[in-house]
Amino acid sequence: MMEWPEKVTIKEVGPRDGLQNEPVEVPLHDKVAWIDLLSEAGYSYIEFSSFVHPKWIPQLKDAKEVAAMISRKKGTTYAALVPNRRGLEAAIDTDVDEVSVFMSASDTHNKKNINKSIEETYPVLKEVVQEAKLEGKSVRGYVSTVFGCPYEGTIATDQVARVSERLLEMGIDELSLGDTIGVANPRQVDQALHEWKQWLPFDKLAMHFHNTRGMALSNVLVSMQHNITTFDAALGGLGGCPYAKGASGNLATDDLVHMLHQMGIETGIDEEKLKEAAVYIQGVLNKSLPSHQMQVVNKERV
Ligand code: HMG
Ligand code: MG
Repeated sequence: MMEWPEKVTIKEVGPRDGLQNEPVEVPLHDKVAWIDLLSEAGYSYIEFSSFVHPKWIPQLKDAKEVAAMISRKKGTTYAALVPNRRGLEAAIDTDVDEVSVFMSASDTHNKKNINKSIEETYPVLKEVVQEAKLEGKSVRGYVSTVFGCPYEGTIATDQVARVSERLLEMGIDELSLGDTIGVANPRQVDQALHEWKQWLPFDKLAMHFHNTRGMALSNVLVSMQHNITTFDAALGGLGGCPYAKGASGNLATDDLVHMLHQMGIETGIDEEKLKEAAVYIQGVLNKSLPSHQMQVVNKERV
């Protein structure tokens, strides 16, 4: 019999990784109302926005206002993505609990995403991590395109390990490995995790799957078999990556929570409240959200 964890931590990235890829810019008050509904659903972690250049990601240009207006719940970590020192300073001004730095395992995707090669990115992030620590903030480090890149194809596991090790050496508290374009299959995830176990501290590891080809939940199951118990997800399956053509939605939080609860695994998240939050943002975006849970909800509503 397979062994399953008793509890899994889900990090909601919808307000950042979901909305950054929407063609519509969600009005500030709707964003705030949505994030407040997410907080009510019982998450321990919400990535609410990013402090990046507004020309690059106009959808999140109101990060400062969002941070000021959301109701922060005790026990929930409110985090924001920052690409550099300027972003970090803006984030700290809004009193975030945690910042996330990010880079890619593929040089081409990294350049498209943050306008720097992998080598040029290390000193920028090193300074951000150091500065964030001095300010008493915890730091999460994302590595994207870990199973495949839209420009370079398959990425070698040792390349992912090398980039991850550099971030860990800088002092990040958690490492999130992203299947940005959703190409990984369960066997590949199993093999990669076997290899990464030699190099990476699994107690600091989170997985970030996208459901482009319908394999995200299967990849979560495989990851749990490697004792990974932290997963990123976006409500309703929102999102993608603006600099990775073909990257469709993130793993849907509502599908993940439903599966875990059906398996008797705790998440601390209230499914009814989650549904309420999903229906809300679906109405704002004026489109059906792709998660299976929302497809059921939408059929019931017809
Ligand atoms: P750049 O053009 O190379 O920046 O962009 P620069 O350093 O040359 O500066 C150019 C101008 O930008 C300057 O202003 C700076 O002050 C300003 P000017 O003097 O021309 O008036 N600037 C900024 N403004 C606001 N906020 C800042 C900032 N930094 C510089 N933080 C930069 C470099 C990193 C800024 C840009 O490429 C950028 O903002 N990229 C963000 C891209 C992004 O957010 N991508 C999506 C997130 S990553 C992802 O989705 C993957 C992940 O979700 C995992 C997964 O899904 O697998 C994490
Ligand atoms: Mg993502």
